[in-house]
Amino acid sequence: PKAVSIKLRDTVKHREARVVVRGWVHRLRVQKNLVFITLRDGTGYLQCLLSGDLTKTYDALTLTVETTIAIYGVISPVPEENHAPDGHELHADYFQIIGKAPGGDDTISNIVAPNADPQTKYDNRHLVIRGDVASSVLRVRASVLRAFRKSYEDLGLLEVTPPCMVQTQVEGGSTLFEFNYYGEKAYLTQSSQLYLETCLPSLGDVFCVQESFRAERSLTRRHLSEYTHIEAELAFITFDDLLNHLEEVICRTIDYTLADPLIKGKVAELNPKFKAPGRPFIRMTYADAINWLVEKNIPNEEGEPHNFGDDIAEAAERKMTDVIGKPIFLTKFPVKIKAFYMKRDPTDLRVTESVDCLMPGVGEIVGGSMRMENLEELMGAYAREGISPDPYYWFTDQRKYGTSPHGGYGIGLERLLAWICDRYTVKECSLYPRWTGRCTP
Ligand code: 4AD
Ligand code: MG
Repeated sequence: PKAVSIKLRDTVKHREARVVVRGWVHRLRVQKNLVFITLRDGTGYLQCLLSGDLTKTYDALTLTVETTIAIYGVISPVPEENHAPDGHELHADYFQIIGKAPGGDDTISNIVAPNADPQTKYDNRHLVIRGDVASSVLRVRASVLRAFRKSYEDLGLLEVTPPCMVQTQVEGGSTLFEFNYYGEKAYLTQSSQLYLETCLPSLGDVFCVQESFRAERSLTRRHLSEYTHIEAELAFITFDDLLNHLEEVICRTIDYTLADPLIKGKVAELNPKFKAPGRPFIRMTYADAINWLVEKNIPNEEGEPHNFGDDIAEAAERKMTDVIGKPIFLTKFPVKIKAFYMKRDPTDLRVTESVDCLMPGVGEIVGGSMRMENLEELMGAYAREGISPDPYYWFTDQRKYGTSPHGGYGIGLERLLAWICDRYTVKECSLYPRWTGRCTP
């Protein structure tokens, strides 16, 4: 009978039918008169069995992993102990090689063996992503992005695409990537926030999924030079509204992801302990966090006890989340350690209406705040920070033409994934990570 061409995600639908499947040899086990192939096509895996005369052909005898192949035959259910993915197996009656892959020392699994050094793995990221773990993380990533878009649709936010090439900074001049834009100085965007703010009077509440760029010299587990930034901005809200909205978005997104049939079981495979976080998230002010760190004898970056006004550095933050073990909204950071645009807390002018969301194992995954809505105050903030207001005229205009109390936040997608998938570093959560010294492949 004629064979129907199928994708491996549809294996079960075609049981007992004659099909042709095309893909890459993921695993290979050769026995006397039997060749077991685990075939991979990106949508799933299928165990295929060559037997009898098929195993005696030159192509079967020289088969290697990662070779592309078309296999014809009938799909049938098999007992669980056969370890066939999905409990199905294809009995081949014919096969054809499409593209061979090298064996021996050049076999992928020799180049990027689990104990290969990290540089070799990152040089060969294009091969690493064919592996079980890396491809699962990328699949969860796609699901999380779909889940965010669904959550934002539920909550009535509209998606926009702000520019990557800009002439203003958002999060400090020291991490700007500068480039020559037809003879003018320009930068790669650090955050789309300022552009989202300009959309409020036009489109209402908005969000974007956009790359952000930071020239971060430091080599850490959670800093990339390019990362995917999910940002949202909301008009006519209070600081409390902002926190509640953020909690809602995170929880909805996790729920949608865990329920996504396209990645069934993947999160549990990567991170068996992962559970959707309980609500409400712990809310702790910066001042209380400093007291907590002093009480627990966790020092600041200089090795001294923490003082009000200190940055809570990555190590201290990680200790906090490890001890507390739950998501934390850390709020009301001092003006001095936060960005120029943040609104002050009317009940304590030393601090801002700001929030970082910290997750166990990673630390900060979200940064957000209410924005300065008053024109004079913003002009003062430019002056205080030594920023020339000229290139910001369009941002300043939001305060001139009908200002509004508003706020928003940015979520680092790779950091969120490091938490969900329990990855040691955000580099594992990016398709092709970029950091100091790495811009290839
Ligand atoms: O805290 P950040 O710098 O805040 C902003 O950019 C705001 N303008 C966002 C806004 O309010 N619309 O960055 C937000 C988040 C961080 O919490 C972190 O998760 C992620 O972006 N992030 C990075 N992720 C990977 N590598 C880096 N170098 C990152 N820098 C920030
Ligand atoms: Mg931050």
